[in-house]
Amino acid sequence: MNEEERLRAKLRPGCICQGIRLIRIVEAIEAGATTFAAIQAKTGIGRGACKGKRCQRKVEELLRE
Ligand code: FES
Repeated sequence: MNEEERLRAKLRPGCICQGIRLIRIVEAIEAGATTFAAIQAKTGIGRGACKGKRCQRKVEELLRE
């Protein structure tokens, strides 16, 4: 991920119901997380009101990149 993409990830929401920025997900993947469950454990994403219905697809797209 280049610097421009990292800046965008800092601004974009990963989980809107808990205010978790996308960069937190990127950092969890860079730290070795390889599944949604692992990223959930590191960031708390998927534990808000949507229960992963909205954010899980976004996380899985990042895992495929
Ligand atoms: S967007 Fe918040 S838990 Fe999914």
